[in-house]
Amino acid sequence: MSQKLRLYYKNVTAGRLGAEQGITQEQFKALAQQTEPLIGQFNNDRKEGKTPYRDLPYDRKTVQQIKLLSEQLKSRCNIFVILGIGGSALGNIALHTALNSYMYNLDDARRAGPRFFVFDNIDPVQFGSFLDWVGDKLKGTVFNVISKSGRTAETASQFMIIHQMLAKRLGPKGLQENVIATTDPQQGILRRIARQENIRCLDIPDGVGGRFSVLSSVGLFGAVMCGIDIDTLLAGARDMDSTVSDTDFFKNPAAINAAINYHYYNHGKRISVMMPYSYALKDLADWYRQLWAESLGKANNLAGSEVHIGPTPVKALGVTDQHSQLQLYREGPNDKLFTFLQVSEFARDLTIGPAPDCAGELAFLANNNLSSLLNSEKLATEYALLQDKRPTLTVLFDQVDAYSVGQFIYLFEVTTSLAAGLFRINAYDQPAVELGKQAAFALMGNSEYNKLKEQIQPLTELDEAFMV
Ligand code: PA5
Repeated sequence: MSQKLRLYYKNVTAGRLGAEQGITQEQFKALAQQTEPLIGQFNNDRKEGKTPYRDLPYDRKTVQQIKLLSEQLKSRCNIFVILGIGGSALGNIALHTALNSYMYNLDDARRAGPRFFVFDNIDPVQFGSFLDWVGDKLKGTVFNVISKSGRTAETASQFMIIHQMLAKRLGPKGLQENVIATTDPQQGILRRIARQENIRCLDIPDGVGGRFSVLSSVGLFGAVMCGIDIDTLLAGARDMDSTVSDTDFFKNPAAINAAINYHYYNHGKRISVMMPYSYALKDLADWYRQLWAESLGKANNLAGSEVHIGPTPVKALGVTDQHSQLQLYREGPNDKLFTFLQVSEFARDLTIGPAPDCAGELAFLANNNLSSLLNSEKLATEYALLQDKRPTLTVLFDQVDAYSVGQFIYLFEVTTSLAAGLFRINAYDQPAVELGKQAAFALMGNSEYNKLKEQIQPLTELDEAFMV
């Protein structure tokens, strides 16, 4: 439980990659000088309540409330469904993939909670197929609708479908017993509906944006419902908090991670590939992709100048993507920084069986563990990339468990804040997402946006002259 997640960065140094592609000692010193004051500043910002996400791992009251609610629901909840999108969904998916077994939904004997689904899309075929299946099981199904703003069209539409279905089949009691709303403590449409219809609520704390909210009720409730040990998850985050608060650059993995990413962005490597060599960590790379993209992709800096900054995060999965992306990663443009996630001890292992008599060439694999093959493949990829002078970082997990996942989440949240500090941008807004949301409202007939609709139509109507 006291094991530390560690960041390994030798393979970005000039010693490994040469002075052209690697970071020299002088450059590291300059990065340290630039980053250290930011660590101090962030520690102060936090004391002044400017970064409330940093205090989430200490919120015991929410943990108690969530556990109580989960106890009340568990005995009659066989299916738990999250409706949400972006920051209201990706953390839940990541926790589930990391900490529940791959066969969770199918394995009735071993599952520690209800079946678990997250719908972060409004594809009617996908959602409709689920509704067909769940229709006669509604009584034992709990829907957790998560929306900070309460006005996201996708989540609102899913909720309205469920609302109608529950009201029709189970009456008003169905809404009260089978829906939990996770939303802003005071404001928003979802909060209003919940008050009106006596739907139970969990709060998303003020000032915590969607992509920084996985350690709040947004991610914790679904986790508890499915038997994830949230006390240990939060303990891991608290442990990482003390490490990433260290004002000594060379002892602070978030500072080093942010600085290396910042350096490479400024040296032509504007793509950040996260590549876990563990299926369990696959969706943490997806969670990171949103955190990084929405926080760091900005048109203006804090001084108001137009900068159009932002590394492009890409997720890949080892070993799967070795057979899909590695050709490009090695021989394509040298414009990427790679972050591997590596696990020392897997939750279980399998031994490779003997080679068939006619296949002596495969005998070298026999009796090896799959984990050893997986980690060898990671080292092989790292080596191959080094040969082509491609920089790589590795986040080392002793094991994938609630503690290390809590550490990972906190490490990358603070890395994101520090990277934003280096780029001198605001990590916590997403103004560009808003226009898309409003345009969708306009196209769906929201009269508040009639003017916008008039502007959209000529630009989006298909022009047959350009159709082949
Ligand atoms: O990180 C964010 O702020 C966004 O991704 C939001 O989580 C997403 O747009 C959903 O918003 P809401 O929770 O208000 O429905």
